[in-house]
Amino acid sequence: MSLQFAIDRTSESGGRRGQLTLPHGVVETPVFMPVGTAATVKAVPQSLLEEIGAGGKGAQIILANTYHLYLRPGHELVRRMGGVHRFMSWERPMLTDSGGFQVFSLSSLRKVTPDGVEFRSHLDGSKHFFSPEHSMDVQIALGADIAMVFDECVETPATWERTKESMSLTHAWAQRSKDHFEANKHLRPWAEGFEGKTQSLFGIVQGGMYADLRKESAERLVEMDLPGYAIGGLAVGEPREVTREMIARTLEFLPKDKPRYVMGVGYPDEIEEYARMGVDMMDCVLPTRAGRHGLLFTSAGRLNIKKKEYAEDQGPIDAACGCMVCSRYTRAYLRHLFSSGEPLGAVLNSIHNIAFYLDVMDRVRGDLAGISV
Ligand code: GUN
Ligand code: ZN
Repeated sequence: MSLQFAIDRTSESGGRRGQLTLPHGVVETPVFMPVGTAATVKAVPQSLLEEIGAGGKGAQIILANTYHLYLRPGHELVRRMGGVHRFMSWERPMLTDSGGFQVFSLSSLRKVTPDGVEFRSHLDGSKHFFSPEHSMDVQIALGADIAMVFDECVETPATWERTKESMSLTHAWAQRSKDHFEANKHLRPWAEGFEGKTQSLFGIVQGGMYADLRKESAERLVEMDLPGYAIGGLAVGEPREVTREMIARTLEFLPKDKPRYVMGVGYPDEIEEYARMGVDMMDCVLPTRAGRHGLLFTSAGRLNIKKKEYAEDQGPIDAACGCMVCSRYTRAYLRHLFSSGEPLGAVLNSIHNIAFYLDVMDRVRGDLAGISV
């Protein structure tokens, strides 16, 4: 089996405590996936990612981006290096996003046709074309445990008509993604030791901020019988109440026995809330991106390490955090590193923030299991 999902317990609010078994290991859910866009979780070495947070268990699964790795160093190079796991020396599970969302958020001069998207690289302006088939070829070369269908994330705000049109395109692309993936997934870069196992493809529900379209999209994707479903097109500028409402209105129509993944969310209190509603997987650049900008998440809220008030503060970032940064370094030192532009500042801030996010989910998993942690 390439993917197995078992749910131990479901809470009254719909939160689920489960295990997702993938070729590269077992993931305890609900799970937060740190983002490793270019085959690196920015500023954090793999050895530390395996240890920080969640009582020393570290990150169980990370995400990488098709768009970035296709442009640089190129997916064929990654394939020759044994796939993204081997290339970056990360033997735990991984997921790749399909490139759809990144083409829409990063590249310029996009031209969308029913066939795919033509775009210019954000690196050097060179012209490229992504179709569902091409995204699958790239994701198979990268070899993550979970690949995502190629989708279009509609701009926001968008009218109902425009959202419906975009959603329909996403549905056609999802079917083409599935067909091409099923025909070619045996070409993944890992084989030895993985007999009978291969990659799995998840669908992505779109439908913007319209509950009726969310329902239609979920139902259409469920007909395709994929092993897991993501909810996309959220956290794109809408108020948080709308994000929550769209998640709730989509979860209703997704199968209870398959993993459900909300893409690109959120703040620590949001990931906790969504996990308690029944979301099994989430990813977000916030802990790493915010860390590089000196924004730290703590049990008492957000803290901006740049502030003068921390110049001689002998305390840790968060006295309630057991991470390797909080147990060793003072706010005063971290402020100094940040103000001096020292690379270690970004490293330590990112480590704390990721540990904080992993701890949030570890606590939620403990609660859902009915075990006090
Ligand atoms: N990441 C965050 N939102 C999305 C989305 O709608 N689609 C994809 N492919 N990735 C995302
Ligand atoms: Zn910490």
